[in-house]
Amino acid sequence: MLSKNIEKTAEIAEGFFSKILRNKREDRRATVVCLSGGLGVGKTAFTQAIAKHLGVKNKIISPTFVIIKKYSIKNSKNYKFLFHLDAYRLGSEKELLYLDWEKIVGNKEHLVFIEWPENVKEIIPKNSHFIHISHAKNGHRDFQIKIMKNKEK
Ligand SMILES: Nc1ncnc2c1ncn2[C@@H]1O[C@H](COP(=O)(O)OP(=O)(O)OP(=O)(O)O)[C@@H](O)[C@H]1O
Ligand SMILES: [Mg+2]
Repeated sequence: MLSKNIEKTAEIAEGFFSKILRNKREDRRATVVCLSGGLGVGKTAFTQAIAKHLGVKNKIISPTFVIIKKYSIKNSKNYKFLFHLDAYRLGSEKELLYLDWEKIVGNKEHLVFIEWPENVKEIIPKNSHFIHISHAKNGHRDFQIKIMKNKEK
């Protein structure tokens, strides 16, 4: 899917979100979305679009220096908090364990976005959704989206 600007990215983000809501969620774990792609490709922009759609009041800033940020979600029956993790500077998964990672991904009311998931491969939950963004011609962005169906009964 091609995005030529932030508005189109927002449309793609909303479409993605409505699809994941249609997934049955029989497990009690968080919904995790991995966003991969090079520097400045639009991973934070995608997260910002979802946050806006969900009525997050605070401005989503890139969490590069704080690693993880937590926001209250106002407009969703399913989710109460959005977590935005930027693993760009993380040296290893171990650092994440200090951040109460298990509590974050163990709560059904949490929606978790991870930038640079390849830096924390070992702790990405199964059933996470994957979005890969790449640069396309004329400054456009190309989105490849893989939505995981929940296979657990
Ligand atoms: N679809 C798009 N079309 C045009 N510009 C975009 C698009 N998506 C993002 N941008 C712009 O690209 C710049 C970088 O975006 P963003 O910060 O979201 O990238 P990122 O992938 O999170 O980068 P980083 O790897 O540094 O975290 C921003 O100025 C943003 O407005
Ligand atoms: Mg970013």
